Amino acid sequence: MERFSWWQKGIIYQVYPRSYQDSNGDGIGDLAGIHQRLDYIQSLNVDAIWLSPIYPSPMHDFGYDVADYCDINPIFGSMDDFDALQEDIHARGLKLILDLVPNHSSNEHPWFVESRSSRDNPKRDWYIWRDPGLDGGPPNNWLSFFGGPAWTYDEHTGQYYLHQFVTQQPELNYRHPDVLPAMLDNMRFWLGKGVDGFRVDVIWLMLKDELLRNEPPNPGWGGVKPFESLQHIHTQNLSGVHDLIKQMRAVLDEYNDRMMVGEIYLPNQDLVKYYGARRADGSFDECHLPFNFQLLQMEWDAQTVQDAVDAYEAVLPEGAWPNWVLGNHDKHRVATRIGQAQARVANMLILTLRGTPTTYYGEEIGMENVSIPLEFVQDPPAVNQPEIAHIVGRDPIRTPMQWNNSSNAGFTEESIVPWLPLAADYQDRNVEQQEKEPTSMLGLYRALTGLRRSEPALAVGDYVSVGTNAANVFAYQRSAAGVDSFLIVLNFGEQSHTLDLSQIASQATIAVATDMQRSGVVDLSNLVLGPNEGLVLIRYK
Ligand code: GLC
Repeated sequence: MERFSWWQKGIIYQVYPRSYQDSNGDGIGDLAGIHQRLDYIQSLNVDAIWLSPIYPSPMHDFGYDVADYCDINPIFGSMDDFDALQEDIHARGLKLILDLVPNHSSNEHPWFVESRSSRDNPKRDWYIWRDPGLDGGPPNNWLSFFGGPAWTYDEHTGQYYLHQFVTQQPELNYRHPDVLPAMLDNMRFWLGKGVDGFRVDVIWLMLKDELLRNEPPNPGWGGVKPFESLQHIHTQNLSGVHDLIKQMRAVLDEYNDRMMVGEIYLPNQDLVKYYGARRADGSFDECHLPFNFQLLQMEWDAQTVQDAVDAYEAVLPEGAWPNWVLGNHDKHRVATRIGQAQARVANMLILTLRGTPTTYYGEEIGMENVSIPLEFVQDPPAVNQPEIAHIVGRDPIRTPMQWNNSSNAGFTEESIVPWLPLAADYQDRNVEQQEKEPTSMLGLYRALTGLRRSEPALAVGDYVSVGTNAANVFAYQRSAAGVDSFLIVLNFGEQSHTLDLSQIASQATIAVATDMQRSGVVDLSNLVLGPNEGLVLIRYK
């Protein structure tokens, strides 16, 4: 395993800082709170912690509107808190990944304050300003992801500025020669402090069409999300973005063993271009990992998932390292999408596939979406588009971590109102409760992560899918030279199946079962798989 880096062998655990642990009684999570929970994080056998943005921000997009790239938001603590947290993370042999948000800043960032101050300010063109269109409206038809036009008119200078998210997130202009170097210095600031890498926000949007051409209508639009009514050919995935990413990668390469994982929602053939070109030493020159979000968006049945895994494996460039994600702070929680029983199967899947898994906090205990009463709805896409809030709103997936059954679930003091409401079921579904139950989702998660850590075939071995002839069962093998190999058999449905897998071996031993009870040796010519059951089977070498 030595030739593999931590970001290949390891598991990434995403913490949404506002919602993990409040240490100072303001109802919002903070760095000292995360620090208090490091024993727990370590007990999950994960290897790296990714923190969603912790920088100063007026919080119009909950920290993804950065007002200072090189400081800590007082809501989350101080730079001393950060240093102490990072030191402890490193002392435990864990890695720390920060969120980097280069595509846009806050409108309160000093760069934008300057840019906005006059048309001839030296920073004017650090952002994307244009005169009104002929009708006095926005310069073109581009849309915001969060509803409405992607342009906001600025009275003071009589021009519009571009923002693909909220109005308070003006987009930086990477066609101006000084912007990327400034962002690279922000990266060096944190790398110099010792952070191990970045999750890079909307990296595939960083460059826009220079001519600001209108985007054509999307004939496949389902009529639900207005943003999807256009084909985003002039705002997404422009070929020039790869040159920017190469320069970002070169900065990471100035330091030892750092990494970058890019947020990219694209089909495989475009996605894999974000690895960049392979260099003589076998490494690539863009993202170490372009996030692979397929499992977040697909129908949950065995054939679809197997086809997707096989297709992704097939399209990966030689030597490129795969990765898998079940959830994040933008997408409905996996246990809500597919149900608790299948959420166990899903955890077994991503913790046994080839490629780095990323777990969104709470997935290890099966946290679900929480329905948010109207007075608590705060997420901009939901606020701006109330009629589709249930589809686009992200508050339901950002609710406080469920630690125990005390009021407020141990997230904050009992007398405090947390920034988002707790799940109705937190008294049953929480860490303390699940630690008492060996068969809990948490028990399963730890069994799987522990196995992945100790078994080279699971951590870094080859993947090959296995035909089973059973509808809704996905089976695959993981193997590496000279070590035990594994056969994983996952039932995606409610029917039980009897499988004949004798082409692989006559017998195998159950290493982990989704119910955390079944054990022993199984006959592979007559393998009974219960409803929603997954098995990790070991084949001794
Ligand atoms: C990314 C983030 C999302 C944020 C958006 C704008 O998609 O994951 O939370 O709202 O970028 O920064």
